[in-house]
Amino acid sequence: MSIIILGIESSCDDTAAAVFRDRTILSSLIAGQEVHRRFGGVVPELASRAHQKNIVPVVDQALREAEVRKEELTAMAFTRGPGLLGSLMVGCSFAKGMALSLGLPLIAVNHLQAHILVHFIIEQGKTSEAPDFPFLCLLVSGGHTELVIVRDHLDMKVIGRTMDDAAGEAFDKSAKIMGLPYPGGPWIDRLAEEGDPDRFGFARPRADGYDFSYSGLKTSFMYFVRDRLKEDADFIGKNKRDLCASVQKAIIDVLTEKLTLAASQTGIRNIALAGGVSANSALRGTVHALAEKHGWNVSIPEFRYTTDNAAMVAISAYYQYLAGDFTPQNTAPFARLPY
Ligand code: KG4
Ligand code: ZN
Repeated sequence: MSIIILGIESSCDDTAAAVFRDRTILSSLIAGQEVHRRFGGVVPELASRAHQKNIVPVVDQALREAEVRKEELTAMAFTRGPGLLGSLMVGCSFAKGMALSLGLPLIAVNHLQAHILVHFIIEQGKTSEAPDFPFLCLLVSGGHTELVIVRDHLDMKVIGRTMDDAAGEAFDKSAKIMGLPYPGGPWIDRLAEEGDPDRFGFARPRADGYDFSYSGLKTSFMYFVRDRLKEDADFIGKNKRDLCASVQKAIIDVLTEKLTLAASQTGIRNIALAGGVSANSALRGTVHALAEKHGWNVSIPEFRYTTDNAAMVAISAYYQYLAGDFTPQNTAPFARLPY
């Protein structure tokens, strides 16, 4: 018998719901939140209020598009963390209530594990192109930058992480300095296409082993722009494309350097990307070029599965269901990982 799961994601500023039959995606909906745009970043209190407003229509629409009645569901899944506590609380409470009223098992999903498991989603009518185990995953998002050895669906080991800012934050903060809208990553990506990545050099902060550090780059970029603005008030306007291309290169260099080191030292040649920043076209291009050079098999998610979505929650819950990993009703969300 097939397993039908409704997954809910509400860890940051997207309210999302997806319905899966086993590994196959039946529907996936995302309601974004425009309300944060004018603040240049996510405002937690506004995010949780918007989740409360969006969650019922998003879940309803996801079930409708999947042509699944709620009585047909096998389990309810939700993102437990990490993320914004007020936002997580909305998805968690909703999932608990719905599971209780329908008598369904509840499955709490780790957001980072879910980002990685998008590689196992099957589109209707298509076959799977999932990476072989073990694979090395570079997980790069707005909140996380991690190198993870994935031995099996639910057997992952983090071998490197950021000491300060995440790669997505480095993109977003640099964009903010240039007056670009939030989130700035996609803007930098687009503007960088016509810029010169070697025009400006920025500090490449060092961290030990497989760890990352981005706060030095942000500071170096900020002071550089500030000093140039003293000489020319329109420095950003005149050089935006080159600034974007150069800072993007600095961010990506740090990622690919550590990825290459980890691949060579672990001997793992199956490489995967995940998380919002894996939508970045220059990162994708660089990783493909490195794959040619080093003989890697590379898996990069489709764009719609890179940033936050609920399909990742449902696929993760599918493997947890098979493993009997259920969650009691007295569960609570967690903002940070316990390390
Ligand atoms: O995974 P995600 O949706 O949320 C978190 O779990 O953090 O990642 C969001 C991050 C943001 O920092 C956003 O700027 C970045 O992903 N991002 C990009 C691109 N698309 C999204 N960064 C660089 N280039 C992109 N094309
Ligand atoms: Zn995420």
